[in-house]
Amino acid sequence: MSRIAYVNGRYVPLAEAAVSIDDRAFTFGDGVYEVCEVSGGMLIEEGRHLARLGRSLAALSIGWPIGERALKFVMREVVRLNRVRDGLIYLQISRGAAKRDHGFPPVGTRPGLIVVARAIDPAVSAARAAAGVAVITMPDNRWGRPDIKSLQLLPNVLAKQSAREAGAFEAWFVDCAGFVTEGASTNAWIVTSDGALVTRQADQAILHGVTRAVLIDVALRLGLRLEERPFTADEARRAREAFVSSATTIAMPVVSIDGKAIGEGRPGKVAPELRRAFRRYSAKSTELL
Ligand code: PDD
Repeated sequence: MSRIAYVNGRYVPLAEAAVSIDDRAFTFGDGVYEVCEVSGGMLIEEGRHLARLGRSLAALSIGWPIGERALKFVMREVVRLNRVRDGLIYLQISRGAAKRDHGFPPVGTRPGLIVVARAIDPAVSAARAAAGVAVITMPDNRWGRPDIKSLQLLPNVLAKQSAREAGAFEAWFVDCAGFVTEGASTNAWIVTSDGALVTRQADQAILHGVTRAVLIDVALRLGLRLEERPFTADEARRAREAFVSSATTIAMPVVSIDGKAIGEGRPGKVAPELRRAFRRYSAKSTELL
């Protein structure tokens, strides 16, 4: 079965999908994106993803390419046409295609929209979560607004590659005061030795992860003690547990940071519990495709 993409108003086989070489996503990284999980045929937290998309667009003064209802329809169509039961939707909006010029394009330039969906075997993530993953740390050299889900991801790309070359799954960015901001494509969490669940407050230094927000709801329901505050890389290395979160990892236990074992060097209790609870919660709260 050939995969189908939605590109600026048309559903086309992936091999034929194309955008203009003047598209500003291509020339300037001038656009935003979202990644939504599809699990068991359900679209997970669509409402929160679209709300964040709206905030990213507004922050960059990019208009919606199509209305929100139409966008929801397109997302479902792309999932249906690609027969995705478990996997993800990638959605990208650019400021549109126009003659290359750094300033905004002429008024009336239509924002570009692409939507693709891909199946992912959930067993892969489950196996990874059972074993736990390694993380390395590196200086946060990104711009001042990582809370905007922009297409400009070079520091994240380089950080992720460094992690892979070090045999790790994720790189945690550390700011100049020594505080962990977040991962290259995940939010960062620890459980302190006295049992507090800690994740950085949702300020401009991090992406306001949808999974992070859901896990906070879930943690409070479970009666966990939550602290939204910065933590240093040193505190993380001394933590009882650590984990990362995103639409594609949910809560993924971290078993080493910079080569130092966290806790007993295997997944602790909290991250797996949150992972299970996330599934129960999202099964109740998300829309059926
Ligand atoms: N990444 N922080 C960063 C820098 C991210 O890129 C992401 C998501 C997250 C977690 O956000 P959420 O829980 O809404 O997925 C945090 C996506 C999955 C990606 O770029 O592929």
